Amino acid sequence: MKKLVILASGSGSNAENLIRYFHAGEQARVVKIYSNVEEAGVFARADRLGVPCEAFNRNDFRNGKLLSRILEEEPDLLVLAGFLWLIPADWIAAFPNRIVNIHPALLPKYGGKGMYGMRVHEAVRAAGETETGITIHYVNAAYDEGAIIFQEKTPVLPEDSAAEIAEKVHALEYAFFPKILSEILSEKERR
Ligand code: GRF
Repeated sequence: MKKLVILASGSGSNAENLIRYFHAGEQARVVKIYSNVEEAGVFARADRLGVPCEAFNRNDFRNGKLLSRILEEEPDLLVLAGFLWLIPADWIAAFPNRIVNIHPALLPKYGGKGMYGMRVHEAVRAAGETETGITIHYVNAAYDEGAIIFQEKTPVLPEDSAAEIAEKVHALEYAFFPKILSEILSEKERR
């Protein structure tokens, strides 16, 4: 059984979706969720689903404590599902090509520091884009710049609000993030 560890800062709807998907099968389990936001919605979701969820602070994130704890759990993949801090270089060295992020736009557009959540969808709307989507990518030391694994598009209509765009993007996230992670896990097995 493969092991996933998730880092999440927000509501955790993607974390929940991943737990539901993998725990219905035999390929992998979400063994732990870590959050840098104590009041994040992800805690209640994890609790309901019986997955341990733990808070950490910036010190533990930077001084190697959290990294050592995660290494002890021996995850096959470290999954960022709405996690907002830049991953330090020692983490990337410790998990080469094993940290995967999902971004709610078509990178390289609408990525980088400060581009998260509704800010992304507002920017897409303000620019008059006719399409947006999701990007699933490996994490490197720069925000949203690691190698792209998968993208999927959805149309943006002139009358769409940012909230409506968010809804379409979330639907893509729920449909594709578990499947793509599952494919990555199977590929790693073959190597
Ligand atoms: C998602 O849109 C994800 O793409 C992004 O942050 C959002 C997290 O939403 N990076 P949730 O916490 O999974 O509900």
